Amino acid sequence: MVDTAQANTGTEGVAGGVGVTALLVAAARAIETHRPDALARDVYAEHFVLAAQASQGWPVRPREVRDGETDPLWGRFARYFGLRTRVLDDFLLHSTHHGNARQVVVLGAGLDTRAFRLEWPPGCVVFEIDREEVLAFKHRILGGLSAVPSAARVPLAMDLRSDWAGALPGAGFDPAAPSVWLVEGLLFYLPPAAETYLIDTVDRLTPGGGALAYEVKLEKDLLAYRDSPLYTATRQRIGIDLLDLFDREPRPDSAGRLAGRGWSTSVRTPFDFTRLLGRGPLPEPNDALAGNRWVFAHKP
Ligand SMILES: C[S@@+](CC[C@H](N)C(=O)[O-])C[C@H]1O[C@@H](n2cnc3c(N)ncnc32)[C@H](O)[C@@H]1O
Repeated sequence: MVDTAQANTGTEGVAGGVGVTALLVAAARAIETHRPDALARDVYAEHFVLAAQASQGWPVRPREVRDGETDPLWGRFARYFGLRTRVLDDFLLHSTHHGNARQVVVLGAGLDTRAFRLEWPPGCVVFEIDREEVLAFKHRILGGLSAVPSAARVPLAMDLRSDWAGALPGAGFDPAAPSVWLVEGLLFYLPPAAETYLIDTVDRLTPGGGALAYEVKLEKDLLAYRDSPLYTATRQRIGIDLLDLFDREPRPDSAGRLAGRGWSTSVRTPFDFTRLLGRGPLPEPNDALAGNRWVFAHKP
């Protein structure tokens, strides 16, 4: 066990606490899906939002967002999630189609439907780890849609502040085979010890040829952006106080830790990809996204 503090989870499932952030990302993906210039498409996303009590009244189409792209929550922040989804889709597809990895492990998978919507190479297996109630909600909605995964899919109900790695081999994970790991929108909610355990575990369970992508926030003082348009809109309009859910202890240097173990790492800003893809959020004053970094790591 690394740390059992329950501080940031509160309500289980997607009804509240940290689980409701999975619905926030789903709503963003639903909106992105219906943009004429969509960066990513997830046809399942709107079904989660429409089904959950906590997200009643949230938009799932661009036309339902009155101020369009200038809306700090359903415009700019939603587009951020659309961009992140696209970039990480590309990372996973590249790692599996152009590398040897056939095991994909999604940590804090939430309502991620990549196991259903991406075209995986033959023989791929996608492990999805999140808390039991979140996975149960996802199972219920996708089951109702008769959704069929495009890879073997193994949901694993675990708290990532516990010794989650122990459950993987029993679920069919082969630590001797290369894997690609995805940690999207998760690390800010975990205590530093759980982040370090996660990084060490990924390193331990990844032979050469494996890859990892994760997201961090570099700000030394997260509260400096408390009154930013993005955090304010999220708190006031849908009742999600992200800063309250984030773990605010000093963060470990995970990229440095991986580099020390022989991984090659590349640390990018989301804005790098906005410029590359021609759409997405750009920096602005008092920007809650200023410290966000996407880290891509490869084990030679
Ligand atoms: C912002 S959502 C992101 C979900 C998904 N990665 C995506 O991008 O669609 C954060 C997810 O992390 C999960 N999570 C947070 N803390 C966790 C923990 N201690 N153990 C397992 N899952 C956790 C939540 O349940 C939630 O589904």
